[in-house]
Amino acid sequence: MPTLHQGRLITLEGGEGAGKSTAVTTIEEWLRDRGRTTILTREPGGTPPAEKIRSLLLDPETGNLDPLTELLLMFAARAENLRQIIRPALTRGDDVICDRFTDASMAYQGYGRQLGPEPVRALQSVVHPDLQPDLTLLLDVPVTLGLERIGERNGQPDRFERSDGDFLERVRQGYLDQAEASPERYAVIDATQDLDQVQRDIRRILQERLA
Ligand code: TYD
Repeated sequence: MPTLHQGRLITLEGGEGAGKSTAVTTIEEWLRDRGRTTILTREPGGTPPAEKIRSLLLDPETGNLDPLTELLLMFAARAENLRQIIRPALTRGDDVICDRFTDASMAYQGYGRQLGPEPVRALQSVVHPDLQPDLTLLLDVPVTLGLERIGERNGQPDRFERSDGDFLERVRQGYLDQAEASPERYAVIDATQDLDQVQRDIRRILQERLA
């Protein structure tokens, strides 16, 4: 299906402790240096109601959620973010950087929670049948290293960061499978490298794919 928007949707994905925050800044600087108006958003979240859904999803006190409830909440927040932030920006011709998007639902709920791909695809076909990211950067890091990095951070781990290793291994595989299935949309970055090298890789990929 042809995309009707003029701006580009760039999504950033990765497992826990992959270093997405720094990558967002690198992408934003690269685009702004090239004169692009750039909107930054994240999922779940991005608008005040969607941020409330995020709080519910990430708060360890929420405890166990039925996996389908979790998936529906992710898409509820996404519908909100798409309507209020992402679609208007793309229509204006702005570029959008989204820190996680539907591929995260496939990786975390489809693979991690073992719901399988069908419910994720079904909800995608309701919530954004016409829209796919133009580019998805996957920061790939082995689960053990990601967990080490989280452990070095201050603050309490959120509901997902507390997940066990098997869950996080499935999430990683979920991302790698999606990257393999859509090489034209995906770029996989080795996030075990030092920060400078990761930033250089990101800039090189942006140059190759978006310049
Ligand atoms: P994350 O992006 O890791 O934020 P921070 O880096 O600030 O901790 O937090 C979002 C969490 O939500 C992350 O653990 C992945 C999870 N998630 C899903 O499980 N499914 C989804 O569809 C999305 C967007 C996120």
